[in-house]
Amino acid sequence: MSDIFGKIQKLKKERNAVILAHNYQRLEVQDIADYVGDSLGLSSQAAKVQADVIVFCGVHFMAETAAILCPEKKVIMPEVKAGCPMANMITVEKLANLKLQNPKAPVVCYVNTTAEIKAESDICCTSANAVKVVRSLPDNEVIFVPDKYLGTYTQSKVPEKKLILFDGYCPTHANIFPEHIEQVRRAHPRALVLVHPECRPEVTALADEVLSTGGMLKFVRGSERHEFIIGTETGIIYTLQKQNPGKRFYPASERAVCPNMKMTTLEKVLWSLEDLKTEVAVSKPIADKARKAIERMLEIGRQD
Ligand code: 13P
Ligand code: SF4
Repeated sequence: MSDIFGKIQKLKKERNAVILAHNYQRLEVQDIADYVGDSLGLSSQAAKVQADVIVFCGVHFMAETAAILCPEKKVIMPEVKAGCPMANMITVEKLANLKLQNPKAPVVCYVNTTAEIKAESDICCTSANAVKVVRSLPDNEVIFVPDKYLGTYTQSKVPEKKLILFDGYCPTHANIFPEHIEQVRRAHPRALVLVHPECRPEVTALADEVLSTGGMLKFVRGSERHEFIIGTETGIIYTLQKQNPGKRFYPASERAVCPNMKMTTLEKVLWSLEDLKTEVAVSKPIADKARKAIERMLEIGRQD
């Protein structure tokens, strides 16, 4: 393991590369990364990267976002087949249909979308700022795609507007059911329940806090409590435990694992640096339009 770590570090210097990793990545991939964060943190980080090469350890839409924000840099994915099923649920045709039916409503797209969807949207959001982004719009009706659960949660926080939702969802978070929370809570009655807004409304209703992955990390660091039930992809528990050695974390469900996030391995990181592959590029006309939606979101910042 230390051998491969050493080789990656050496190549990283030679290539003037930076490694960005999402909070759901494998533990060893998080350890080799220069920056580990949530979708919003990774987008902000990509926007200010100084290196020539960005090695993106996450899923495809995240690397695409980095490529859109840094057109002059080479963005590579160690495992380019790592996609997000939710991002692939909405197509340009389906979005065009929603726009046709609601011609006056602006489109807010979750960052978990393809570059083509972002290019057809007015503003992007992540789970760390969806409420803030929707509130920032002057319109009373807003199209929100593709996550119906994040959309439902956002609607509950912004009752003064009507959100027109699409039927997308994250299969990993949809795997967490209220029974799981109740069961773990019975075993650990003193634990606070933190869940991600991609969870079902029946699950967010049981939570003490509904937070993005970055929001969970911040909340736990500042909390006096010692035990937490974590309702999101289980990969984040590694970072939580590392940052808070005195606290205890219990996954709401062991089944909440995103197979796509786990496709990137240390070996693939090494090979990607050796071959500078696989490059993720977005055509200029799409990137120019999508960048406006992402930059508009970055100006708004986080809510948590
Ligand atoms: P955040 O890291 O922004 O909370 O998003 C979770 C997620 O599912 C990303 O794919
Ligand atoms: Fe997509 Fe869900 Fe995996 Fe995130 S956890 S990448 S939303 S499938």
